[in-house]
Amino acid sequence: MALDFIFMLTRNDRTVKDAMEHLQTVLATGVHHVGFKDIGLPVEDLKELNQTIQFAGAVSYLEVVSLDIESEIASAKSALEIGVDFLLGGTHVEAVLPILAGSDIQYYPFPGRITGHPSVLEGTQEQIVASAKALSLYDGVHGLDLLAYRAKGDIDALMTAVCSAVDKPVVVAGSIDTPKRIQSVENSGAAGFTIGTAALDGVFPAKDTDLESQLSAIQEALARIESRISPQGKVNLEQGFAKFSDPWSPKVAGRINDMQIKLVKLAGSFTWHHHDDEDELFLVNKGQLLMKFRDREEVIEKGEFIIVPRGVEHCPVALSDECEVVLLEPATTLNTGNVENGFTVSDLEKIS
Ligand code: NI
Repeated sequence: MALDFIFMLTRNDRTVKDAMEHLQTVLATGVHHVGFKDIGLPVEDLKELNQTIQFAGAVSYLEVVSLDIESEIASAKSALEIGVDFLLGGTHVEAVLPILAGSDIQYYPFPGRITGHPSVLEGTQEQIVASAKALSLYDGVHGLDLLAYRAKGDIDALMTAVCSAVDKPVVVAGSIDTPKRIQSVENSGAAGFTIGTAALDGVFPAKDTDLESQLSAIQEALARIESRISPQGKVNLEQGFAKFSDPWSPKVAGRINDMQIKLVKLAGSFTWHHHDDEDELFLVNKGQLLMKFRDREEVIEKGEFIIVPRGVEHCPVALSDECEVVLLEPATTLNTGNVENGFTVSDLEKIS
């Protein structure tokens, strides 16, 4: 499951005054989950933030950091009024659940005992796990907001213990300010993590301290952890075709799912054949290709392609001295299809 990065428009557990200004940068970098806290800005401003987040197609979060029950109830009511997608945090679950009943808000309270401002997670690992288990049993609790990086002791062990003890998603919060910590969150089996202060203060390792650089660095770290960075470089067709000269001997230049991209040079006529199971695409890169079918012929020029469906008899012919064709077909495709003769090449060379 993908790990969600939730950017919090907050510093030291307060929504920042210039949240709306920052929000434009945040949405422009493609961050898909954006949150704020119940402290720092009036509800009207939070409403506007929420509308902007949702209008951009992103998911909104309100995190409750007020500790007393009255403030928490007020924040839960604000969450409803604002229309956020997620309500994170808070500890007075019995008081909040009736307020959220019937709404679409996803509710992720804090497991464990929370004190102070900025909040701290108190208690032993056993106590926090027991609290997490108990909370996860409520129907109206959809997940947990674990303040792991505000706890003492072995944080990796705590995250892993909580994530494996409950069968609901766990979002990890606290002070995640390095790629290593994101990796630890991923390893623990959590569903997401929040970063606020670290990015706003420019302390996440990045090329610069501005918010855009910070968010880009966080997203790059996450993409690397989730193997969403492509190891593939571009392929240049001219350079690819320059690597060989033997005609009718396709070279593998790339793979896409179960398909291969092959480069082949044509000279004269090939052999009549068909492929029982594979469709083939012929894209002309240089020269002219004549594709013979039993009922007709087609001339394919540079910049044009033709698809030969499975089962259809065909015979490609080069109409020019130099004829270069890019093939796209399943990796199982034999160049001569149902026929085996002097043209058959079963072991294809890879050129990139
Ligand atoms: Ni063929």
